[in-house]
Amino acid sequence: MARKPILAGNWKMHGSTAEAKALAGGLAAKVGQQTDRGVILGPPFTALATTLDAVKGTNIIVSAQNMHFEEKGAFTGEVSPTMLQDLGVTHVILGHSERREIFGETDELINKKVASALAHDLTAILCVGETLDQRDAGKTNDVVTGQVKAGLQGVTTAQAPKIILAYEPVWAIGTGRVATPEQAQDVHAAIRACVNGLGLPGDDIAILYGGSVKPDNVDGLMACPDIDGALVGGASLKVEDFTRIVEFQS
Ligand code: 13P
Repeated sequence: MARKPILAGNWKMHGSTAEAKALAGGLAAKVGQQTDRGVILGPPFTALATTLDAVKGTNIIVSAQNMHFEEKGAFTGEVSPTMLQDLGVTHVILGHSERREIFGETDELINKKVASALAHDLTAILCVGETLDQRDAGKTNDVVTGQVKAGLQGVTTAQAPKIILAYEPVWAIGTGRVATPEQAQDVHAAIRACVNGLGLPGDDIAILYGGSVKPDNVDGLMACPDIDGALVGGASLKVEDFTRIVEFQS
């Protein structure tokens, strides 16, 4: 089955509202009318409204980078799924390695967030990935499929269309050291087999690669059969670079 490619930008903690307006507006003009591939922008919370406004009338989707699993309550500093819905946000990145490593998010917490996102009709972009030590120890597929199983626990086939997976090897994030297409393809195939093994329609779920994706390496990655898109950090902050990534050729 043909899965539609998805090119997603994770802006991380970058961008004033003015910068978000310029970046999203520039991308709206360049790639806003794409129909054969999905384009997702992930600004920080403070720029979500500005970004939504800048892409209005285009096919570009806006994603948050995180959320709490509860709808409301005494959770100082947190943002809820209903707050995201209220803004018009439809997607949320969950379980990014920076959330796992820097903020101590566990598989159990991430699974609660996935369940909550789906319960609120938000598409969850669930991130998984191994560290360099884990790769060197030959544990890559065990670690990654373990994160997939834990993150997707309780997810039903009916909810599967609202799941996007992202394989982001920790050693490739922000390092300039991209996984080779072969390395990425191997893990993507293992993830897809794992999802099928869970009884979910793995062949229908997009699996994005993330970690130092740039205009000059996107084509080789996108040529791999199980790589359905990219989750891009640094190179998503420049209109020209992200446009070239969206317009990958393979
Ligand atoms: P870089 O593209 O900057 O390596 O970041 C990848 C990433 O973490 C996207 O979520």
